[in-house]
Amino acid sequence: MTDTEATRLIAAAREAARHAHAPYSRFAVGAALLMTDGSIVTGANVENASYGLSLCAETVAIATASAAGRLREVVAVGVIGGAMDADGLATGTVPVSPCGRCRQVLNEAAQLGGRDLPVHCGAAQGDAVRSYRLSELLPDAFGPADLGIS
Ligand code: THU
Repeated sequence: MTDTEATRLIAAAREAARHAHAPYSRFAVGAALLMTDGSIVTGANVENASYGLSLCAETVAIATASAAGRLREVVAVGVIGGAMDADGLATGTVPVSPCGRCRQVLNEAAQLGGRDLPVHCGAAQGDAVRSYRLSELLPDAFGPADLGIS
């Protein structure tokens, strides 16, 4: 876990949040996954007129990695979020951490890849960062191994 890693992932998450579809909550979230080859896979939240169908940014990023056959290649995570301004850009200086469902979704990639993922939580603006391991955010997680999948 390095400052460079956190800085890079938070920058990518901020860029991803520009594509959030969040007209209902007006809260834009971006997520970025660092992959084993150094590339970054991103996602942003995708809300729906049927509110409960909305997808979180982290889930979209994981689905994108999985669709490319790269679920086991995730090595670190960055996430940012904040209330949208009139131009639809995320604002605010308080770090955002993954919701409970996203922690479980991230855990699938973590366990399949055999890694306790660093999760860097940043804000839309400013330098505040809180870095965790996924095992801190989701202790004693249920995962693929519980179903005999490795
Ligand atoms: N959201 C995320 O994208 N990730 C999280 O971890 C927390 C919440 C989204 C869902 C919804 O579109 C908006 O933020 C407000 O809850």
